[in-house]
Amino acid sequence: MSKLFHDMQKEEMDRAKEQLSHIQKKVADGNILEQVHIVMASDINGMGRLFGGRIMEWIDVLSAVVARDFTKQDVTTIKVEELVFEKPAFINDTIIMRGKAVSYGKTSVLVEIISYARKLTGEEFPINCARLKMVAVDSLGKAVNIRKFIS
Ligand SMILES: CC(C)(COP(=O)(O)OP(=O)(O)OC[C@H]1O[C@@H](n2cnc3c(N)ncnc32)[C@H](O)[C@@H]1OP(=O)(O)O)[C@@H](O)C(=O)NCCC(=O)NCCS
Repeated sequence: MSKLFHDMQKEEMDRAKEQLSHIQKKVADGNILEQVHIVMASDINGMGRLFGGRIMEWIDVLSAVVARDFTKQDVTTIKVEELVFEKPAFINDTIIMRGKAVSYGKTSVLVEIISYARKLTGEEFPINCARLKMVAVDSLGKAVNIRKFIS
């Protein structure tokens, strides 16, 4: 095989690998992380419900912790892919949020968070479902390849 042909083949394989690296891979069994809160007076909106902005903040933090655990890197939020408020929560409800990594690409990880409200009676039901894409970044804030950090 000539050196030129060999180099061309290698370039093509590198290009194919680069393209494949953008395909999101599924996470088989993501660790589930939990965050809990009690809804306080300062979390309530004018309608007496848990303020959407407050739960979004909690979701963002849990999502970052899940993504940091998964990538072993600092992360930043690039996109909220889904955010559904299914039911309201009210003062004194316990909010349980469960998050896990569901898939990852070359530099990003998709995190799913389902939040539940629990009443004093023990009744528990989902109130919110969110999916956030988090990107691993270096100390300059540049996206970094996470593949080598994932076992
Ligand atoms: C996150 C950031 C570093 C990415 O930089 P970038 O130069 O766009 O990086 P890339 O183009 O290499 O994209 C990085 C990843 O984000 C994904 N991405 C980029 N733009 C996207 C978009 N519009 N939608 C979904 N995913 C996107 C890419 O697919 C890539 O993932 P992959 O490598 O797993 O395939 C940069 O956009 C940034 O700093 N954004 C601000 C983040 C921030 O401040 N968040 C806090 C506000 S809550």
